[in-house]
Amino acid sequence: MNGDVAPVRASGSARPVYSRITGTGGYLPERCVTNDELATRVDTSDTWIATRTGIRQRHVAAAGELASDLAYRASQRALERAGIAAADLGLIIVATTTPDMVFPSTACILQHKLGNRGSPAYDLQAVCSGFVYALAAADSALRTGQCRHALVVGAEVYSRILDWSDRSTCVLFGDGAGAVILSAADAPGILSTHLHADGSYSDILGVPGRIDHGRIEGSPFVHMDGNTVFRFAVKVLAEVAHEALDANALAPTDIDWLIPHQANLRIIEATARKLGIPMERVVVTVDRHANTSAASIPLALDEAVRDGRIRTGQHVMLEGVGGGFTWGSVLIRW
Ligand code: ACO
Repeated sequence: MNGDVAPVRASGSARPVYSRITGTGGYLPERCVTNDELATRVDTSDTWIATRTGIRQRHVAAAGELASDLAYRASQRALERAGIAAADLGLIIVATTTPDMVFPSTACILQHKLGNRGSPAYDLQAVCSGFVYALAAADSALRTGQCRHALVVGAEVYSRILDWSDRSTCVLFGDGAGAVILSAADAPGILSTHLHADGSYSDILGVPGRIDHGRIEGSPFVHMDGNTVFRFAVKVLAEVAHEALDANALAPTDIDWLIPHQANLRIIEATARKLGIPMERVVVTVDRHANTSAASIPLALDEAVRDGRIRTGQHVMLEGVGGGFTWGSVLIRW
């Protein structure tokens, strides 16, 4: 989207406006399911899952715990970190594939839970790229002066759309939420955002079911061609990282932290290898969180901010890929 950092002047403002992340938050449901526990339910093993995916455990929402509940906890932590109140938010975007209900949007439900009234709130559906898409949308809103503070959340309860008897998919995913506060600033912040989609790949990953006259038509569970997804993900994650680097005249050596979508450790390692970025500079949470779809990037970001790895002035690359297919990157000067 923003191919460079050319400043945009908000209407009525004499100064260019950029956006920067001023607070992060994350939340994982209490219940943790290890690979060994899964192996008591389906024909799998800790060794198979760990060697093929790097995943050791995942968190699973309690009965009745919805995406907006996880989003609420993560948002509260991000607000607290940013030092602002929910009433200060001028925009709320929730990236989710597992909304509370068909409508109203999870963003509107979250807005109500937070106690904000009047700001625009909407869900964004770009599956595992959802957080990157939502961050790009919020960045545009801030740069054009539409608001001063935006809440951007990735929240998922994938446990609800998994066939727990299908070992080829149920071992891969987990539940969680991550949130950031994006605030108007005099300097970046977000240097550029780059988004893509190609709907011709819709068959290789999806939940084909739909509500039709009170019935579910088609499967309501995740279906995936794992090998094709793997190859496609590595290809586009490397491409879209290079696109962001080129737009900012930076090299892979300039990236202090790469935070890719946490689908699978082997996808992350292959992407880092293609980019020439050592794994010491890659944030990894997939071993403990599994794939939390739109929540995976903000959860990983929150962890690396809170444990002090990400520091002021560093370059941080976020990048996602997911069903659709969709993919994108966001380059940040922290
Ligand atoms: N436990 C034990 N055996 C299993 C399991 C399991 N959980 N799942 C599949 N197998 C078996 C298969 O049945 C197959 O058995 P067979 O040889 O007797 O037929 C064997 O393991 C090998 O299956 P493959 O699918 O070839 O295994 P592969 O090495 O390709 O790994 C995997 C599968 C992990 C899904 C891999 O393709 C992958 O990582 N793909 C990326 C998918 C992904 O990460 N998706 C997340 C969503 S997409 C996104 O977020 C972008």
